[in-house]
Amino acid sequence: LKPRLLALSGSARRDSLNRKVLAVMARGAEAAGAEVRVVSLGDYPLPLYDGDLEDSQGLPDNAARLQQLFASHDGLLLASPEYNGFFTPLLKNALDWVSRPLPDGSGRPGTVHVRGKPAGITAASPGGLGGIRSLQHTRQYLANLGFLVVPEQMGVSQADKAFTDAGELGDEGVRKAVEGVGAAVARLAMAVRGD
Ligand code: FNR
Repeated sequence: LKPRLLALSGSARRDSLNRKVLAVMARGAEAAGAEVRVVSLGDYPLPLYDGDLEDSQGLPDNAARLQQLFASHDGLLLASPEYNGFFTPLLKNALDWVSRPLPDGSGRPGTVHVRGKPAGITAASPGGLGGIRSLQHTRQYLANLGFLVVPEQMGVSQADKAFTDAGELGDEGVRKAVEGVGAAVARLAMAVRGD
């Protein structure tokens, strides 16, 4: 059975550059033998995390749906914009909700549905650094949630000029690096499972 990877962008913007990078990473993972499901966080709107809201109304339905998605996948592919050196509040808020105990009260926060699962991180920016300053924070945050973040990573610079009309990365070295992050996650997912 192929490992199943969940693919998320830290931007729900219609023309998101990171969503395009995510598609390239997904192709790399598929070529390495994984099955990838790309999901937009824009389809799972969530309030800003609020402990009083959680106490009074329980986990929002969309948070429970995202928890289910993480639980039913073997790993994570992530592409996020860099906002002032960090990954986005959209991503942080969604994953903070995901890290809460399951609606039935089972599991410790941040554990059961993500712990020990491989993750790969990329960023994309119209700027010259490709969002790489954010990647160390993304790496640390995911590690705190229990993900095994693969050492491969990539920031795509000048990303507004990096794609062909067909959505492919024009520069072969950049394309291979992005595909390589996806492939590394696929391989680690198989190794973790003992394939
Ligand atoms: C940015 N952008 C940006 N770019 C970058 O390379 N380093 C940075 O620190 C920032 N900071 C930043 C802050 C805020 C609040 C915004 C809105 C934008 C620019 C950013 O890379 C650009 O908008 C990307 O196009 C966003 O990614 P998506 O939505 O195209 O995937």
